[in-house]
Amino acid sequence: MAFPPQFLDDIRTRISVSSVVGRRARLIRRGKEFVCLSPFSNEKSPSFTINDDKGFYHCFSTGEHGDIFTFVMKTQNLSFPEAVERLAEEAGLEMPKQTREEAEQAVQGNRDREAVEAACVMYEEALRGPDGRRALEYLQGRGLTDDTIKRFRLGYAPNGNVLKTKFKARGVQEDVLLETRLLSPGKDGRDTFDFFRDRVMFPIFDLRGRPVAFGGRVMGEGEPKYLNSPDTPLFHKGQLLYGFALAREAAAKKHEIIVAEGYMDVIALAQAGFTNAVAPLGTAMTENQLELLWRLSPEPTLCFDGDRAGRAAALRAAERALPLLKPGTSLRFAMMPAGKDPDDICRRDGPDAMAKVLAEAAPLSDVVWRQLLSEHQTDTPERRAGLERSAFAKAQVIADEGVRAQYVRLFKDRLYELFRPERKPFTPGGKPGGRFAPGHRIGIARPVPPAFGLHGGKSGRGMGDAGTARRLRERILLATLINHPELMDYVEERLGTMEFADSRLDSLRQSAVIHIAQNPGLDFEALGAHLARLGFAEELGNLLNSETYVHAAFALPAAALETATAGWDHTFTLCQRADLEADLKRAEIELAENPSEHTLAAYKALLDLVRPAGDEDGSELGSGETQHKR
Ligand code: UTP
Ligand code: MN
Repeated sequence: MAFPPQFLDDIRTRISVSSVVGRRARLIRRGKEFVCLSPFSNEKSPSFTINDDKGFYHCFSTGEHGDIFTFVMKTQNLSFPEAVERLAEEAGLEMPKQTREEAEQAVQGNRDREAVEAACVMYEEALRGPDGRRALEYLQGRGLTDDTIKRFRLGYAPNGNVLKTKFKARGVQEDVLLETRLLSPGKDGRDTFDFFRDRVMFPIFDLRGRPVAFGGRVMGEGEPKYLNSPDTPLFHKGQLLYGFALAREAAAKKHEIIVAEGYMDVIALAQAGFTNAVAPLGTAMTENQLELLWRLSPEPTLCFDGDRAGRAAALRAAERALPLLKPGTSLRFAMMPAGKDPDDICRRDGPDAMAKVLAEAAPLSDVVWRQLLSEHQTDTPERRAGLERSAFAKAQVIADEGVRAQYVRLFKDRLYELFRPERKPFTPGGKPGGRFAPGHRIGIARPVPPAFGLHGGKSGRGMGDAGTARRLRERILLATLINHPELMDYVEERLGTMEFADSRLDSLRQSAVIHIAQNPGLDFEALGAHLARLGFAEELGNLLNSETYVHAAFALPAAALETATAGWDHTFTLCQRADLEADLKRAEIELAENPSEHTLAAYKALLDLVRPAGDEDGSELGSGETQHKR
């Protein structure tokens, strides 16, 4: 709907920006302008500036800029026409009447809407009547409470032509019922008939919460399981999401929206407390629907069945979203255990189980990367080049330059990690272990990720050169902390200043340290989920597994805190000593090549540092780190 510019200006002149913003923030006058704390961020000093003369606001901290319409859209999660309507009403202006044709359409639209609303009420009433008994029992049998049934306005379409008869008695014209597809046109000269018969009814609401269509489910066996209204002038499947109007407020408040696959999922989720859930209407996600989701949340979480079909659907959604990604705007993917949907999980395993699945959702980039890996073998240079080419081609579909660059960089990093020489594919007779192994959750076939810096050699202990020992110790230090975040206060200073040899592991170290420091009392589940969300699922899977624990039982989550602390100390000391010894070796060479008082002093100082610990024969990994007990 296009509004005449003059009309929008009229609203702008009647309603000042400061009066609109003033409802959300305390304004301070500053000359001709007002300032306040940005309603869009958590700033401490006011950088949100309002200029009523010019009719706009500007936020110097976030770069937000706009007028009364954008402000109302953002703060109340409304579309532009909705914001205009609301502000026009406030300004006491009547919405412009469009052309005659548009006006007629509006009238027709209202008649259609009234008919669907009336049908919705009839179905709701029928559910409570004698005919609806079986349907009500069906819904109750699926665990729905009366409140839930009312909230979603579930109903029952009786057998026969009940709707047709009732509407006829009210004098409603048949063309309205045909246009809204409440009636089916009778073919071959037969009479029209009720579209939905003997089905449990799920009304589909438009963005403002008005019923515009229905899905009807058979009770028991029968085809199709769900019969849906076809598209009508009121209803365009691809532009709506089931449950959107009901979820809007909760989603906007939480900045999170859950996207399930079906009607019952949305309803069960809502009943379990996830009132911010929606579903596309039985089709693949459209661009339009993605835009709707992004209005409410920067990273909507899409739930898919963990089975083959679900993974394929997840991938389709990821591909659809790729070109549309913006800085800060993406999707996350929660994979259900195979064969389960959110309805099953909420009902059988409970809301906590559902929350856990959601918390472990993978970022879109992981889904894409895993798919790339599953599509390519990487055992020859040509095949590796093939993977590389596909990865960069994938990144190229992203329209936003900044996001595209980040994807290219991510793929480069991952390819580098994958092919770097000392990371030979490591297969200790099985799958990647670890609580957060991504392959485990997503279940997409992928090569076993190589372990960090470990040559799974015949010695069985990974006793390679100094670099290898160092990497193993770093793994142990980090794994111990992640499994025992309570250690943080004790280790922060030392771990915070280390730099790990492996760059991915070092980023993981930094992220873990920051997150634990900012969230005292965090448990390892929450920490793991957070790190997985940051894209470290694979690293966690590689880190938290028997390849670490075989060298350091004290790193295990089950180890007592005291044991873990002692083990951490010991390992850190070994790292430190190894560093010192390397420094000493360098000083020795320096002294030999360039003997002077200065180089001698340096050498001696290091020698003094090393010697006190030097008489203990515990520098080998196998002894100290494996057997360390208290
Ligand atoms: P599912 O087959 O996964 O069903 O379809 P469901 O949602 O788990 O339904 P219940 O739990 O058996 O009642 C997912 C969605 O696909 C659409 C519907 O929107 C459904 O909710 N669908 C499915 C149809 O439109 N028609 C069908 O025949 C089947
Ligand atoms: Mn289901």
